[in-house]
Amino acid sequence: MYLKKLIWTALFACLIMTSCRPWRDQFSLISPDTRINFTLQADDGIPSWSVRVDGKLLVNESRLGFEFRNAPPLTGPFQLVSAERGKLEETWEPVWGQEDQIHSNSYSGSVQLKEVERPHRLMNLHVRVFNEGIAFRYEIPEQNGVDSLFIRNELTSFNLVTDGDVWWIPGDPNSFEQNYTKSRLSEMRDSVHTPLTIKTDSDLYISIHEANLIDYSSMTLRPARSDALTLECNLVPWSDGDKVKTKAPLLSPWRTITIARKATDLLASRMILNLNPPSKIEDTSWIRPMKYIGIWWGMHINKYSWTQGEIHGATTENVKRYIDFAARNNIQGVLAEGWNHDWERYGQKNAFKFTEPYDDFDIEAIRQYAQSKGVALIGHHETGREAPYYEEQLEDAYKFLNHHDIHAVKTGYAGGENIYPINETHQGQWMVEHHQRVVEMAARYKVLVNIHEPVKSTGLERSWPNLMTREGTRGMEWNAWSEGNPPSHTTILPFTRQLAGPIDYTPGIFDLHFDQYKPENRVKTTLAKQLALMVVIYSPMQMAADLIENYMDQPAFQFIRDLPNDWDESRYLSGEIAEHVTIVRKSGDEWFLGAITNERGRKLRVPLADFIDSDMIAECYSDGAEADWESNPYALHIGQYLASPSDTLNALIAPGGGLAIRFLPKSDGAASYTNISKLMMNQ
Ligand code: NOJ
Ligand code: CA
Repeated sequence: MYLKKLIWTALFACLIMTSCRPWRDQFSLISPDTRINFTLQADDGIPSWSVRVDGKLLVNESRLGFEFRNAPPLTGPFQLVSAERGKLEETWEPVWGQEDQIHSNSYSGSVQLKEVERPHRLMNLHVRVFNEGIAFRYEIPEQNGVDSLFIRNELTSFNLVTDGDVWWIPGDPNSFEQNYTKSRLSEMRDSVHTPLTIKTDSDLYISIHEANLIDYSSMTLRPARSDALTLECNLVPWSDGDKVKTKAPLLSPWRTITIARKATDLLASRMILNLNPPSKIEDTSWIRPMKYIGIWWGMHINKYSWTQGEIHGATTENVKRYIDFAARNNIQGVLAEGWNHDWERYGQKNAFKFTEPYDDFDIEAIRQYAQSKGVALIGHHETGREAPYYEEQLEDAYKFLNHHDIHAVKTGYAGGENIYPINETHQGQWMVEHHQRVVEMAARYKVLVNIHEPVKSTGLERSWPNLMTREGTRGMEWNAWSEGNPPSHTTILPFTRQLAGPIDYTPGIFDLHFDQYKPENRVKTTLAKQLALMVVIYSPMQMAADLIENYMDQPAFQFIRDLPNDWDESRYLSGEIAEHVTIVRKSGDEWFLGAITNERGRKLRVPLADFIDSDMIAECYSDGAEADWESNPYALHIGQYLASPSDTLNALIAPGGGLAIRFLPKSDGAASYTNISKLMMNQ
């Protein structure tokens, strides 16, 4: 129903004469703009794939196929049964997103293959070629003699022809919460998570990932022993070594490469979403993006405890204080962690009860109060890795939420170890299926979901738009209890993790040192960068993460108050991986700009004609004179300027700094404002 226009054109199928000869041919598809060419080719019936961009090889002949525990490998030789080509073009409206309309345009194709020799099994390959990249997936159709499939190995490889710089995190099956390492592709030794972003020596920016990960396990990538530029699909295994346990028909996730000539073009691609089916939820009127605050950071800095006791955070009184603040400040939601039994038993068997509030959390009083103030409560289901125990309580837990008018929940699977007690991993198939069960249950009860310690994002939110956001990254919390995230971290995320989907990074910390609680830790940014991150990091549930007392009487908080919850349009103006990025997003007749840098200060130059087409007022929150994340992070300049499309913004961004601007329609009296081109001199 969100399909605005679905055009199938030029769909034609040609049935190839079925013969028993091994396939010895090529099947090529080009992108609509003809720049990308994807070829399936077969050498004596053994299929492989390759990609050319502007006529130059990007991926050389790369493997396809499977190994099974209960059957011979499915690698050929195959004969070609039939081949089909088509074109898929549609424009659809996401329920929420970085824009209000998404256009998808690709050539599509499928080949049906049959083993030349016994047992003559069938395998189909489906391909899509977009202007922004390629995708392919396997299908093992229902057929005689093929029932249960225990995949020991998916043999897909990505045989890249040029070296490049790569930003990676280790493919730890239990964690995505790592710092990125930059290395040469040829020097990468570990198995790594996707999206894996590479700047190739042929000046292409590519990101290898997967889309529509359902009933399968996550793909990590492992450098091949034989060739440093070949990456092999390395599926996260079950505890018994199987990679995927399933039945025919099997439809694998899409294997994808987003391909761009500029780093910022990666950010504009919606290929991952476009490879997922439309919403399965018919009435989506209850799904609304929001900003939220919560009883959260206080626990991470030791001001509060999750457990009931002297410094318990989630008390009735404290939650009401947060509700008051939200109601007064254009914040729609309040999260309360530590509301339920039994945080004292964290790590022990059957610890968390999702229908049992602590005594000092009067859920009925809180419900009434929140309702009277028009604020949404966000529940919290920390499982402490006991996902099976959560499932035992699942329906009751969501009934309980409904009963108390709670229509959003944050789930959690904290602890970098296997799921208890089943010994499966966070990225394995069991958890892929678990999250799906939770999201579908939540949809039945009209609950929005924000997953922490999730399985990676692969665009499922198109089909399940109540799956709002997820962590799955080294988020703000690490600044509270580790050596912290380096200033470059958030300049890497937009080009890596964020290509997969929304991130609950939880920006907006104003007290960057929190010396009163943890003098040895701090957040390594300027204050202006915390505001800019609210725009740069995309999440339809965006948290302003600090204690509310740190927002009170802070002029800088006006930017967060003004920030919309949803966007009509986003433009990615400039950026280089791990260095800097500038993004503008539009909502109604206002634009919001977020620009951030790594540890290096820099001068930002933005021709305003890149996004505005009439005179506007610019409310600027920029790094003040001498600002520096390390020595002077709070120096902030706030000013109102007149901005015309003919102007160019020149601003200084401090080391570890940022810039946040709200552009709004010009009003009377604006004539007295200084022109925005003077911004730099005011700093
Ligand atoms: C880790 C999550 O990332 C964090 O947000 C949460 O507060 C703790 N687990 C406790 O559930
Ligand atoms: Ca976490």
